Amino acid sequence: MAIQISPSILSADFAHLAQEAAAVADSADWLHVDVMDNHFVPNLTLGLPIVESLHKAAALPLDCHLMIEDPDRWAPAYAEAGAGSVTIHAEAAKSPVRTLREIRRLGARAGLALNPATPVEPYADLFGELDMLLVMSVDPGFGGQKFLDVVLPKIRRARQLIRSTDAAVWLQVDGGVSAETIERCAEAGADVFVAGSAVYGQEDPAAAVDALRAQAERAAG
Ligand code: DX5
Ligand code: ZN
Repeated sequence: MAIQISPSILSADFAHLAQEAAAVADSADWLHVDVMDNHFVPNLTLGLPIVESLHKAAALPLDCHLMIEDPDRWAPAYAEAGAGSVTIHAEAAKSPVRTLREIRRLGARAGLALNPATPVEPYADLFGELDMLLVMSVDPGFGGQKFLDVVLPKIRRARQLIRSTDAAVWLQVDGGVSAETIERCAEAGADVFVAGSAVYGQEDPAAAVDALRAQAERAAG
């Protein structure tokens, strides 16, 4: 289980996205792009035109996290815009299987995200349709929120379910991941770590990515 780090540009300087992406290009695995529509979550960020431009400007593959209503309608366009991974929310998708298949057909990895209050068990039968399961460790909408320890048992159960179904699903955790919390997440079985403020809030974002990765690798054993 290789550890991967996906810095969230939500905590970066939106006026200098290309430079902010370049700052972690040699240390991170992905660039996490938080798309918010002010309906599914009470915040508004960015959409397709910026993802298209970022895809051209950034060396890292884009890990697009769609916190939007109607992902069935919009998710395929993010795959077409060049995202390497497109994650939709289980709470928002009306036709998750059709949408996940469409994301894959368009050449991107397909992800399914679960809010802290959404149980993982009902989705275990869909694991064959997924490349990544995202367990949110905050209620989505904002960077810099406090990590919710209550999701750790769900991360553990998700890891067990992934093992038992034999599916090659990455397990991502997003929200409040930092030097204080990443070890708990790795011990619970997460292998892809989103970090916004713990990377872009630091003096040296690349060094922060290296340090988080080292911590996660040690904790995952
Ligand atoms: C929150 C977003 C996260 C956010 C994480 O809704 O999905 O990706 O950027 O930020 P931190 O790491 O600061 O909690
Ligand atoms: Zn996110």
